[in-house]
Amino acid sequence: MCGIVGYVGTEDAKEILLRGLEKLEYRGYDSAGIAIANDDGIHVYKEKGRIATLRESVDESEAGMIGIGHTRWATHGAPSQLNAHPHQSTTARYTIVHNGVIENYEYIRREHLPHVEMVSETDTEIIVQLVEKFASEGSETEEAFRKALSVLKGSYATALLDLEDPDTIYVGKNKSPLLIGLSDGVNVVASDAMAMLQVTNEFVEIMDEEIVTVTREKAVIKTLDGEEVTRDPYVAEIDSTDIEKGTYPHYMLKEIDEQPFVIRNIITKYKDADDSIKLDEQVRQAVIDADRIYIIAAGTSYHAGLVGKELIEKIANIPVETHIASEFLYNMPLLSKKPLFIFISQSGETADSRGVLVNVKKLGHKTLTITNVPGSTLSREADHTLHTYAGPEIAVASTKAYTAQMAVLAIMAVDAARAAGVEMDFDPLQELGIVANAMEIFTEQKDVLEEIARDYLSVARSCFFIGRSMDYHVCLEGALKLKEISYIQAEGFAGGELKHGTIALIEEGTPVVGLATQEAVHLNLRGNMKEVVARGAYPCMISMEGFAEEDDKIVIPKVHDYLTPLVSVIPMQLISYYAALHRGCDVDKPRNLAKSVTVE
Ligand code: F6R
Repeated sequence: MCGIVGYVGTEDAKEILLRGLEKLEYRGYDSAGIAIANDDGIHVYKEKGRIATLRESVDESEAGMIGIGHTRWATHGAPSQLNAHPHQSTTARYTIVHNGVIENYEYIRREHLPHVEMVSETDTEIIVQLVEKFASEGSETEEAFRKALSVLKGSYATALLDLEDPDTIYVGKNKSPLLIGLSDGVNVVASDAMAMLQVTNEFVEIMDEEIVTVTREKAVIKTLDGEEVTRDPYVAEIDSTDIEKGTYPHYMLKEIDEQPFVIRNIITKYKDADDSIKLDEQVRQAVIDADRIYIIAAGTSYHAGLVGKELIEKIANIPVETHIASEFLYNMPLLSKKPLFIFISQSGETADSRGVLVNVKKLGHKTLTITNVPGSTLSREADHTLHTYAGPEIAVASTKAYTAQMAVLAIMAVDAARAAGVEMDFDPLQELGIVANAMEIFTEQKDVLEEIARDYLSVARSCFFIGRSMDYHVCLEGALKLKEISYIQAEGFAGGELKHGTIALIEEGTPVVGLATQEAVHLNLRGNMKEVVARGAYPCMISMEGFAEEDDKIVIPKVHDYLTPLVSVIPMQLISYYAALHRGCDVDKPRNLAKSVTVE
């Protein structure tokens, strides 16, 4: 995880780097730092905590037109000022920032740097010390940097300053994302284009095992073997207003509210002139050619994948397995003869999923990524991509990306079914329009959900979410949302499974959210709710128009059975939001988390 930035240009770099880091805080926010070079040397500022804390510590009078910066999600070494980046070599000639994990850092330390006294507990420091070692043995900086990177195993997006050449940023990449932004007399470095849209919207992607020397005038890309590479820049199509909160107090609330618009946007993007589904022919073929689909994802995207399995199996009649990426990576099941791997990922950067992608590609299998970031690693490296068109998701807790993923999965499933000649009366584009309207009812009735959050969760220690079939998957997501932002112990369970053990946890007053939107099983779920109420639970029933009962707390408008998760999750997102708010939690940046999980 972590985010890096770099700037070399004609203005004071400090404010540009700080603003860039603010945009990257979603990648980690337990400490941050910048280094600025000027005629007096290289000045490093770093602090434990948020960019706001770093901002206060920076010496306003110290200006420099080149610099690098970092926001951290700790992997090696606790969050502290000492472990915050930038790190410097022993003589302070070199200064570095790094996103990634150096897997062989213990080995490097022992074999290459036995006499170097490390200052921090980080794996990063060995990179800068290695560069210094190779430079002290006679290598020019670029060569020393190249040699250092060649020794590393693991992931890195890294930027280096040399006190003796204060007009150049040396940049290297392997597995962690990295872009170079180009402008007139100004060039920048960033983990994500969002950080540097303030300077340019023209970016060049850097590939694994490439290094770049970035000066005001140019950015020269070379492979680790020293071969020069030319690559055309692309224009980042992100509207910088998309990444502002506007009048919202939190990104999460803004993103919850955006969901009806996102669904309508998806309808537009996937609709052809004759109102049929518009989908890449190759994607269609890949789906219908598969004898089994393996969905690989993590966290919220995994929960969307669970719903995706039901949709694809029921609609397109293709067997599907949904797997947690980090488990699949080291424990692959027996595969079918013609598998298709679908990677679902908001960021397109999740290392666990990418690990699986690399492995299955080596085995020659077909791959498709469903992502919100089409230029991302998972998108670039898979055979095909389907875009979720949700717009940038900034809050750490995923909301609109989840509903967008399920919408795209539904469209893809129907497209495959139609291509295979399956008759059906389910028109996803039309039904998604009804979903968008239903979503709006909740985003416009926040006071009711705020009251429920206050009533049920202000002092609760734990909370259970129970549901059956599709509803069970939404319960897993509802529980994840609540725990990650409010820190309330929350678990999602299959309604019928509680009595096999977990019901022992129900005490007087324990909140239990029951979700019953599936007509076939809603009575069974109501029975399960009675079982917990008989043991003291405080019930909050969410049902759907058509079979709602008088005491139900929330009734979602009638939408197609296949699409209920897109609507029923909205009250859960909003209840979690208000629960976190009432408990004084940092909604957009919950403790211990980061938005983009680029370490295994
Ligand atoms: C939870 C959340 C995470 C992500 C997970 C995968 O709100 O956002 O569980 O879903 O880290 O991330 P992506 O979808 O970027 O692969």
